[in-house]
Amino acid sequence: MKALVIGSGGREHALAWKLLQSPRITEVVCIPGNAGTATLKGCTNVALNPSDFEGIARVSLVNNLALVVVGPEQPLAEGIVDALQAQGIAVFGPTQAGAQVEASKAWAKDLMAAAGIPTAASAVFSEASAAIAHVEAQGAPIVVKADGLAAGKGVTVAQSVELAKAAIEAAFGGQFGSAGQRVVIEEYLVGQEASVLAVTDGRTIRPLVPAQDHKPIGVGDTGPNTGGMGAYAPTPVVPPDLLVRIQETILEPAIAAFQSRGIDYRGVLYAGLMITPDGTPKVVEFNCRFGDPETQVVLPLLETPLDDIFMACIEQRLEDLPPLEWKSQAAACVVAAAEGYPDTYQKGMVISGLAAAEEVGTLVFHGGTQLKEGQVIANGGRVLGVTALGDTVEAAVALAYQGMAEIQFDTLYFRPDIGYRVRAES
Ligand code: AMP
Ligand code: GLY
Repeated sequence: MKALVIGSGGREHALAWKLLQSPRITEVVCIPGNAGTATLKGCTNVALNPSDFEGIARVSLVNNLALVVVGPEQPLAEGIVDALQAQGIAVFGPTQAGAQVEASKAWAKDLMAAAGIPTAASAVFSEASAAIAHVEAQGAPIVVKADGLAAGKGVTVAQSVELAKAAIEAAFGGQFGSAGQRVVIEEYLVGQEASVLAVTDGRTIRPLVPAQDHKPIGVGDTGPNTGGMGAYAPTPVVPPDLLVRIQETILEPAIAAFQSRGIDYRGVLYAGLMITPDGTPKVVEFNCRFGDPETQVVLPLLETPLDDIFMACIEQRLEDLPPLEWKSQAAACVVAAAEGYPDTYQKGMVISGLAAAEEVGTLVFHGGTQLKEGQVIANGGRVLGVTALGDTVEAAVALAYQGMAEIQFDTLYFRPDIGYRVRAES
């Protein structure tokens, strides 16, 4: 069976790698992919834009690609699943209607309210003056979010009313284009964050191993938010009893709420959670796709063939799939970014040490990389991630840093403290 993966990040490299470990998968095509997928045995890149649904459908049909997996949110929000399904192509991911859960924070808040899903109190505004009046009445800390997709940069956790006002003015001033023409203003939640990615066929929903991401750019979770600078799994923040509670109070009610809106949601539902000090899991955000870099730590722990899970979701028989099997190990991923990210950064630097990092026993999943004249060069903010397995999170983290020590490129930056909350406890 041949599969197609849409996207070009570390998440998609990990998806292609994991699919190719399945006994049934003979070949993977990546659109557009990166240098990592270009050099992965069994994988080929096709240089098309993920928004080119017609081109993607043609590649799928001509090459007999039996399964399409969509990585990023943008094509999902644009309706890639609807477009491919209309051509009879088996595709893993929610339809455009389902993808609203990520594409509009206001829509997601409505869904959560209707389903009684615990989340931060919030209000939606389509005018700056009303939003500012609300912030002045509420006081800080407070959270300002652009309603639409803003590549992970539309959220400001404001420690002062002044900063909240600046974020509101920036959003309505066009900083996030049309995504910021409505803002959601939210209660500030304290606690530990966790990412629970769940797979669903629209009726049954099953969580994957819980992970913890590290969103801010700086050591100790300081500085602006990024797409994620590193992750580990499983996280002790979500022990098994809490995962049951998340299933019952968040995941299953979400599926019921989709159903009551007439949405047949098949794919990944990613619950970004805050575990508040009294132990209540609250939803910070829902995403309609796999997380990046969470995927790079979740998939290496998975024993069940990934295509079995995807096909069970697509064919709506997840209930009959045997329990998912996991390695009894931990995984950690450290992201190497180009200095300056998430603002401006350089591209085009030559990357070395990739083979050496693999020799120490780590997996290097490429993000923003490109193959040029036989060399791997940096081509994005998050350039690559080094993933390692170990018997404990500490061991996995230590090995990931050993792999990272082998990697070199000009302006390379990584956080030296991935997994620090776990390491501090032990
Ligand atoms: P989001 O894109 O909605 O996940 O927000 C990005 C990050 O902002 C989250 O991972 C949190 O660290 C932080 N954040 C978002 N909403 C809240 C909230 N209500 N309270 C505290 N922190 C938040
Ligand atoms: N790592 C956060 C995300 O994928 O949204």
